[in-house]
Amino acid sequence: MCGIVGYVGVRDATPIIINGLKRLEYRGYDSAGVAVINDNQIEVRRDAGKLSQLVDLVSKSPLNGAPGIGHTRWATHGAPSARNAHPHVSNTGKMVVVHNGIVENFLELKDELTSEGVVFNSDTDTETIVHLAENHKAAGISFEEAARRTFKQIEGANVVLLMSTEEPDKIIAARIGNAGGVVLGIGENENYLASDIPAILEHTRKVIFLESRQMAVVTREGICVETLDGEEVKPEIHVISFDAVSAEKGEYRHFMQKEIHEQVRALTDTLAGRVDFKEGRIRLPELKLTPELAKRIQRIYITACGTAAYAGMVGKYLIEKIARIPVEVVIGSEFRYSDPIVDENTVILAISQSGETADTLAAMEEGRRKGGIVWSIVNAIGSQAMRIADGYIVMQTGPEIGVASTKAFTAPLVDQYMLAILLADLRGVIDEKTRRQLVADLRLVPDLAGRVMDTEAEIEKVAHALKDIRGCLYLGRGINMPIAYEGALKLKEISYIHAEGYPAGEMKHGPIALIDEEMPVLCLAPKDPWHEKMISQIQQAKARGGMVIAVATEGDELVKSMADHVLWVPEAPWMLSPVVTVLPLQMLAYHIAAIRGLDVDQPRNLAKSVTVE
Ligand code: F6R
Repeated sequence: MCGIVGYVGVRDATPIIINGLKRLEYRGYDSAGVAVINDNQIEVRRDAGKLSQLVDLVSKSPLNGAPGIGHTRWATHGAPSARNAHPHVSNTGKMVVVHNGIVENFLELKDELTSEGVVFNSDTDTETIVHLAENHKAAGISFEEAARRTFKQIEGANVVLLMSTEEPDKIIAARIGNAGGVVLGIGENENYLASDIPAILEHTRKVIFLESRQMAVVTREGICVETLDGEEVKPEIHVISFDAVSAEKGEYRHFMQKEIHEQVRALTDTLAGRVDFKEGRIRLPELKLTPELAKRIQRIYITACGTAAYAGMVGKYLIEKIARIPVEVVIGSEFRYSDPIVDENTVILAISQSGETADTLAAMEEGRRKGGIVWSIVNAIGSQAMRIADGYIVMQTGPEIGVASTKAFTAPLVDQYMLAILLADLRGVIDEKTRRQLVADLRLVPDLAGRVMDTEAEIEKVAHALKDIRGCLYLGRGINMPIAYEGALKLKEISYIHAEGYPAGEMKHGPIALIDEEMPVLCLAPKDPWHEKMISQIQQAKARGGMVIAVATEGDELVKSMADHVLWVPEAPWMLSPVVTVLPLQMLAYHIAAIRGLDVDQPRNLAKSVTVE
């Protein structure tokens, strides 16, 4: 979803901005543009399509000067086209804006502006912002005051950057609601702005995160943060530890492939510092979980979207089984409409890679409003989901660039397993032997993941056999049922093949009618407590002529004798088996999409960070 980069300093802004936007490509976009102030004039280059088109445009018609702002747009109002691409300039040509979000009252504002004679040059909601700001400025007030008045008129969740030729030394930024982040990077005699850290990480690691309803005036000399009501804010400066190198593709063809392989390291890091193997105990200090708090929890709602929600479904099994607390998983976009029963003994646990998903944030806010305890498991350090939570667990995966989530799926599985043990321990509902065994099992995880990585060539062969399928059913049971959902989501989102995940036991209630020679069935049949049930599922699919692809535990001759293709996984303790069984499904989806020559890292219509409802 829209990426924003800004630069204030003595260097030419354009290359810095374009490089930064490249690092945000993972968010998904359909047009791009950049504007600089040069000799007191605003100059803009923008076009529909990928950043490479903007680079061509800039090389034919160079753009010098600073400060500058740039944008990658994911169309909401108006088609992806050059005229709708940001930045948008005011009618006098003295102000320019880039924006992420949706101006909810834009029609009303546009009507007012049009009646005052303002001419609109695009179909976007964004353009209203720059015209409003210019109208305010025309009344003779400062740029800062004009910007503030504008920000206060805009409804919805929005991030805005504005520049004016009348005060050409600054960029004014605002975060108006909860959607989308703004990170301000602190340099030496220069400063940066971006919607996400990777965009500026090569220049600085010292950053400030703007909170909701805050604005910042960014000049070469400094950054001044205030609320939209004009109160001065002393912002916290964070030092970011992961480096830009980990956001490079390296030896891999796509980020998704790289990130699949990175899971071995990410899972190792997930355990680091949190698992005391000697004592058989878990430490999650950022969660701020005391024995008193653990004992009073009566219900947990896990809320998240897409892949993160499927991770939450596995978490439900783990927390209910280990900690004996009732858990309900509610999709982020539904939470606030389902009138959830929340009181001070209810936890709302949000899971989010980006930490900026609008629906997940709205669910957290609803949980807070109703008086619950709000926790999050997030990957993006400093993200909103981390900051508004009472306690959090950071996924130790590093930046995830591929739009299809992989390492941000397996990390929260392990996080929730650890959380379940910690809750059980603090509530006194687990005996020492069981606790020690559950903790000891964690040691196996990175190696088990690594062994699946070693089977990639075999998985690629299966991908070749399946590359032309038109649909696929994914079936799982028990703790591996959510893995059927996740496997199907991975296939559909990057290969555009229709895939459906189902609890295997539901087949006979309808979907079995779909099975014939044309409809392959992928069965998750590892050696877990539901193994026998899955064997009978494979038999039923075979009896109807379906092609069966099974995920099975190494050495399982029975499954081998029945299935057409087997994706082998090493034997794993059943409560950790989803961490292992999902890996061949990620790789299968990846290779099918790569063989079909598709844009694996940026699938059509998708954005990495969905910051609108
Ligand atoms: C699928 C995928 C999405 C995200 C979902 C939530 O591969 O990436 O389904 O999981 O949009 O995003 P986050 O985790 O950033 O809240």
